[in-house]
Amino acid sequence: MSVRAVIPGSFDPITLGHLDIIERASTRFDQVVVAVLINPGKEALFSADERVDLIERTAGHIDNVSVDRFTGLLVQFCHARDIRVIVKGLRAVSDFEYELQMAQMNQRMGDVETLFMTTNPEYSFLSSSLVKEVARFDGPLKGVVSDVVADALKQRYAERGP
Ligand code: PNS
Repeated sequence: MSVRAVIPGSFDPITLGHLDIIERASTRFDQVVVAVLINPGKEALFSADERVDLIERTAGHIDNVSVDRFTGLLVQFCHARDIRVIVKGLRAVSDFEYELQMAQMNQRMGDVETLFMTTNPEYSFLSSSLVKEVARFDGPLKGVVSDVVADALKQRYAERGP
């Protein structure tokens, strides 16, 4: 039996912390689907197409990883693709409370289990919001995002200014 897992998120943009979770999950599941939430109510720095493209160019070297997008509830996406496992990275205890609520709700609504992976300590401080803040003021991005994401961030802020 082939076991599939989904790694959901906004990925605005994907960081090396996300990549670490994707790489590690890809060694434990037959297939990993990275699912980008399209949330029309939330303004993103990168469009859905750009976020998908940046993930593909950052994690595309991993054979059993694919990238998809979803709107609405994650459990609906899981059911439509016969996925029963969600993988999430936990950076700190502060992540846990909300993640626990979502995991329990997703379990109850859709019989989809959430498995938490501890973030590599090298990236436990990292978030997409923090990366955008650094990029906005032309700070160093080496070691926190892939080169393609660093270039995309620089270009976006050059276009729109800080
Ligand atoms: O990268 P993020 O923004 O922290 O990811 C959050 C995400 C996309 C995983 C979460 O908001 C989500 O699953 N949203 C889809 C709507 C949904 O299913 N909500 C959970 C109900 S319990």
